[in-house]
Amino acid sequence: MKFDTPATRNPIDQLKVVGKPLDRIDGPLKTTGTAPYAYEQHEAVPNAAYGHVIGAGIAKGSIMSMDLDAARKAPGVLAIVTAANAGKLTKGDFNTAKLLGGPAIQHYHQAVALVVAETFEQARAAAGLVRIRYDRTGGAFDLTEAKKSAVISEREQPDIAVGDFAGAFASAPVQLDATYTTPDQSHAMMEPHASIAAWDGDKLTLWTSNQMIAWGRGDVAKTLGIPKENVRLVSPFIGGGFGGKLFVRSDAALAALGARAAGRPVKVALPRPLIANNTTHRPATIQRIRIGAAKDGTITAIGHESWSGDLPGGGLENAVQQTRLLYAGANRMIRARLATLDLPEANAMRAPGEAPGLMALEIAMDEMADKLGMDPVEFRIRNDTQVDPEKPERPFSQRQLVQCLRTGAERFGWSKRNAKHGSVRDGRWLVGMGMAAGFRNNLTMKSGARVRLGADGKVTVETDMTDIGTGTYTIIGQTAAEMMGVPLDKVVVRLGDSDFPVAAGSGGQWGANSSTAGVYAACMKLRQVVAAKLGFDPEKAAFADGKVSVDGRSVSLAKAAESGEVVVEDSIEFGDLAKKFQQSTFAAHFVEVGVDIATGESRIRRMLAVCAAGRILNPKQARSQVIGAMTMGIGGALSEELAVDKRLGFFVNHDLAGYEVAVHADVPHQEVIFLDEADDKSSPMKAKGVGELGLCGVSAAIANAIHNATGIRVREYPITLDKLLPHLPEMG
Ligand code: MOS
Repeated sequence: MKFDTPATRNPIDQLKVVGKPLDRIDGPLKTTGTAPYAYEQHEAVPNAAYGHVIGAGIAKGSIMSMDLDAARKAPGVLAIVTAANAGKLTKGDFNTAKLLGGPAIQHYHQAVALVVAETFEQARAAAGLVRIRYDRTGGAFDLTEAKKSAVISEREQPDIAVGDFAGAFASAPVQLDATYTTPDQSHAMMEPHASIAAWDGDKLTLWTSNQMIAWGRGDVAKTLGIPKENVRLVSPFIGGGFGGKLFVRSDAALAALGARAAGRPVKVALPRPLIANNTTHRPATIQRIRIGAAKDGTITAIGHESWSGDLPGGGLENAVQQTRLLYAGANRMIRARLATLDLPEANAMRAPGEAPGLMALEIAMDEMADKLGMDPVEFRIRNDTQVDPEKPERPFSQRQLVQCLRTGAERFGWSKRNAKHGSVRDGRWLVGMGMAAGFRNNLTMKSGARVRLGADGKVTVETDMTDIGTGTYTIIGQTAAEMMGVPLDKVVVRLGDSDFPVAAGSGGQWGANSSTAGVYAACMKLRQVVAAKLGFDPEKAAFADGKVSVDGRSVSLAKAAESGEVVVEDSIEFGDLAKKFQQSTFAAHFVEVGVDIATGESRIRRMLAVCAAGRILNPKQARSQVIGAMTMGIGGALSEELAVDKRLGFFVNHDLAGYEVAVHADVPHQEVIFLDEADDKSSPMKAKGVGELGLCGVSAAIANAIHNATGIRVREYPITLDKLLPHLPEMG
């Protein structure tokens, strides 16, 4: 089915099942510990041996020699895979560095060997006996240095110039010119990267933890040099990904190689301390923002430049993209630059681009409001736009940013905020409120599904779409239930298997809208086939309560499958509505913080998010997405930073003791409001996405609240107490 004209009324609009805050249908499996995650496919693969990955001890250079003798003789060892014995390996389309390094080493902890043994302990012990001599060469590890030779990446972000930015900025009565930094961040998902590989002749099955099954299948085939048809990926449950599992990593490639070498299935999980440097991360940025405005707060010039780094052949963190669309302003300048760094591979992490981009832009907007003496909510409303500021003939499909801001201000009690910074005390706490706008584009991806109607009246959906903890099982079940007129418990959902039709996958917050739209398309086809089988006019048939009816005549849905299961397949393809209409999602974030006047410790006291993101398919799952994202925003504001060793080129704090994510004790009362929307340009579901939007703007709102509490403006994330302490007032 092609979606290229705005959606009209369709069966989803009944909202009998879709739009309800239903519990996860996979909840019982997860809460009883019986959902089989990649490393736990004991039933499918009862006899797996264990692989232990060895990561390179240098960031750049080459392996001079590897002494495997002692490891080979160690108890239980079955095989050792290295680049020297693995055969020809090719870099996958979605990887920047090779998944098995050697002799050349491209980054620290790049995998250089897999030791396979009967038990996990034997594999790990033997790995400790491998002796590697390296020739270490220098590399570029400091973004501030590398920035000087950074280049444009035309493909990712061409320079944008609208009007006369330099002239308008120079003549603006109120100006801001400030530079902000965001650090390298790690996805830090709960479930580590893990895979089990089993060969049957030349056919490979990989149970793996992966967000994008079709991409992964292609990359595994390319890496190993085997046909795609010979690779099956199975990923039914995923314990978080946040972009770190968009692409297959060394666990998958090495499990496959290890299983081939050992002649039996092999399971590999990346140990936590290997993940930060072996896999991908969100790269650090340096961002310069210039805003010029008239005295009444109208922005006349807006300029955003961003620098980030990656390995040769890598990509940039597009931190400027939201600035192209979020605020009006006649004169605009947008530039992103990519530096070459020899740090581990940079790539997407939840809301790539917008998350760090808004961390900077939304502090800048707060600073500008201060300079203007305007309320920061009113300043943003003053500069709202209903059209693409670069192409005024192109409207937003739907844009309720102003409504988000007003609703949020009202519900949070923003009017009680004291605009005089550093003036509210509660015992030892300096108390402040801050806010920020949130913005994330709404992307869509072709998505397919197969639906089966059984003689028992059950509807089964099969698609390679994944559920990374987002609630995909449930919203896909809800979609099929709504379309076929059956209760949710009559729907069976099967996900994450490359034997199923290719779906959008979980990325870029496109998963929920695109994958359910694919199920919508397949169900539309099933309705037609069913109606025809039952002798109804497909155009007139109503599907409700397990029955198909036309003009008072009703037949049970199951009857259509009496003489055999009915199976259809279709996909949704998106036309050019996204070109004609800018499709985005919007939020307003409000935060109250307390900063300890003596220690500089910041504690979040309350948080509110108001989101406008099209139809909300399941408010309970969507809320979970947003409160999780708000929690990630706390980490981003206050603690998360991969510390770079600039001499040796690696992330020093590569475990969860040193890389500090927000924990329960850091998270206060969180409230989430969804505006009532249905976007007919986004898909037949009229939905968008919230999983990334929920993070966009959160950290800046916290930074702004800290400024309101203390009067101290920190422009370098994370806002740790050492950055506040020297500036805090004397205790009094
Ligand atoms: Mo997302 S960073 O595209 O998983």
